[in-house]
Amino acid sequence: MDYKTRTKIARIVVDDAVPVDSEVIILGWIRTVRVSKNVAFVEVNDGSCMKNIQGVVEDPSAFPVLDQLATGAAIRMKGVLKPSQGKGQKYEIGITELQLVGAADDKYPLQKKRHSFEFLREIAHLRPRTNTFGAINRLRSKMAYAIHKYYQERGFYYIHTPIISASDCEGAGDMFRVTTHDLTNVPMVDGKINWDDDFFAAEAYLTVSGQLEGELLATSLGDIYTFGPTFRAENSNTSRHASEFWMIEPEMAWAELDDDMDLAEDFLKYLFKFALEECAEDMEFFDQWVAKDEELRQRLENVVNSDFERITYTEAVKILEKKKDKFEFPVHWGADLQSEHERFLTEKTFQKPVIVYNYPDEIKAFYMRLNDDGKTVAAMDVLVPGVGEIIGGSQREERHDVLKDRIISKGIGDLENYEWYLDIRRWGSVPHAGFGLGFERSLMYISGMANIRDVIPFPRVPRWAKF
Ligand code: 4AD
Ligand code: MG
Repeated sequence: MDYKTRTKIARIVVDDAVPVDSEVIILGWIRTVRVSKNVAFVEVNDGSCMKNIQGVVEDPSAFPVLDQLATGAAIRMKGVLKPSQGKGQKYEIGITELQLVGAADDKYPLQKKRHSFEFLREIAHLRPRTNTFGAINRLRSKMAYAIHKYYQERGFYYIHTPIISASDCEGAGDMFRVTTHDLTNVPMVDGKINWDDDFFAAEAYLTVSGQLEGELLATSLGDIYTFGPTFRAENSNTSRHASEFWMIEPEMAWAELDDDMDLAEDFLKYLFKFALEECAEDMEFFDQWVAKDEELRQRLENVVNSDFERITYTEAVKILEKKKDKFEFPVHWGADLQSEHERFLTEKTFQKPVIVYNYPDEIKAFYMRLNDDGKTVAAMDVLVPGVGEIIGGSQREERHDVLKDRIISKGIGDLENYEWYLDIRRWGSVPHAGFGLGFERSLMYISGMANIRDVIPFPRVPRWAKF
């Protein structure tokens, strides 16, 4: 099927790497076809980039196949690359051969008109063929590459943490259970479910985070990162929560909270710069069509070139208390920051990314390092305009007895389930720190897309696991 001899459209229109007068073979899907008596235009996209290429037929009567072409059909065309007469495109192809590979009829849902994102979610199996979702899927791929490049070039090792796990890292209890028990006949002992009889002879879940295992590897290899799927059974139907999302979790031995914040800031800036430089064509599209009311690229450039704001939780609460009447949820020292508060800080007060650190112990996870004040922990969240929390991280509690007390006092489960985690504090314990970046949230910020359902090919959210 000319797989090896075809020319991808990106080679022509993005890379400018194909000389005029070359003979090329294009394999792609028709976006539009216009046939008149004297001339026909066939516009094709092959997914390699945003732009289409137009094929021109000078003598339509010699190509009877033209009658069978329609939007959505797959075709093969051969022809000569020429400078285009038309506006808005540099090249076109003078068609010498034209074949229909996979027909499409007028029932094809993606006819040339604008479709709402809601409608496109219902046809998530077809939406990758639209401009927006072509761009999003290309961005996802490039950014995944950027993430590996960033850490690999800095001596961090990529580690694989288990997807099936017996521990609740965040202690929030919103986990999906993994079991092979027959749900119509669950084995019981003494009125309780007999997990001993289950596949793993223990209660098991889909992981919410690779952090705990990541810490074990960091305190062996030095610097590590994970990049994999994580799962949360939170029943929050918001535009920023998915039940299955990808997280990047770097973890550094010998590091403290400052080092953690420095890494988070440097990493985010690197990603934004990478998107601007390496995904220029798609970023231009997002700027023009997705983030319509703002200068998306300008905003990212500003972020890359300025420092993030860093404030303590206590300072943040002081700022928010002055604007009390603006919020639905009350703010006071000790309360968890709601997304309206986070967005106020980053969108209104500072108008740039903000790192909030040293949160009250009560609202944060057991593994975070208790500060000397005995009230706060060495936690940090990075907040960005439009999205809110994009990163959550901390310095970890490395003191064995303090950690043990925290596991008990936070009531997160049997101590014996955490013996392995305590062990690295028993022998050769060192300060260490890390964070988790939500991959989808970073894509939302970069692209300006407003809903997490639109930055992942097949989103999983409450009451939706189709495709
Ligand atoms: O703040 P979180 O829960 O932190 C952790 O899981 C730590 N174990 C990370 C670490 O220190 N290694 O989650 C980290 C990030 C959030 O800031 C957010 O960007 C993203 O993961 N996230 C979600 N993204 C989409 N849907 C959800 N339901 C998310 N929950 C968290
Ligand atoms: Mg968090």
